[in-house]
Amino acid sequence: MVDKLRSPIAGLRVATLTMFAVVSFACGASSAPEIPMGSNGESDSELATGRNIWIQNCSSCHGSSGQGGRGKKLNEGEILKLYPEIDGLINVITVGKGQSMPAFVSQLSPVEIEAVSRYIREILN
Ligand code: HEC
Repeated sequence: MVDKLRSPIAGLRVATLTMFAVVSFACGASSAPEIPMGSNGESDSELATGRNIWIQNCSSCHGSSGQGGRGKKLNEGEILKLYPEIDGLINVITVGKGQSMPAFVSQLSPVEIEAVSRYIREILN
């Protein structure tokens, strides 16, 4: 009796979750974390630029959320431990590090490097 009452509701929940999954998949071309809306109803355009740069230049090695892979893990507070100040982060992206972290001095402008640095610190963090 209880089962008969509950099952339609459970079915509806499954349908809702499935729809949600399909919609999120269709909308997000990448799983890199989105920029939240500001209090003025708009999202920070520099952070949006930073997210695009991240997707195109960094996520293949560092993972879409900065979880690491071929490149170092940068999310969950790691970046602020490595570089408490944004200047150190900007510098390592500009000049590269070791054998496999490329220098981006000739691919990205200083404005783009700053945008992706803010995205890493403010959104991936
Ligand atoms: C070809 C793979 C690759 C790409 C592309 C790449 N990285 Fe890296 N990255 C690495 C590797 C490997 C390391 C670890 C380097 C080491 O410690 O020797 C690293 C390290 C880092 C570090 C930590 C540096 C430190 O002092 O430990 C940061 C920050 C970083 N990458 C940011 C970025 C950003 C931002 C981009 C995109 C603009 C990017 N990386 C693109 C592979 C990559």
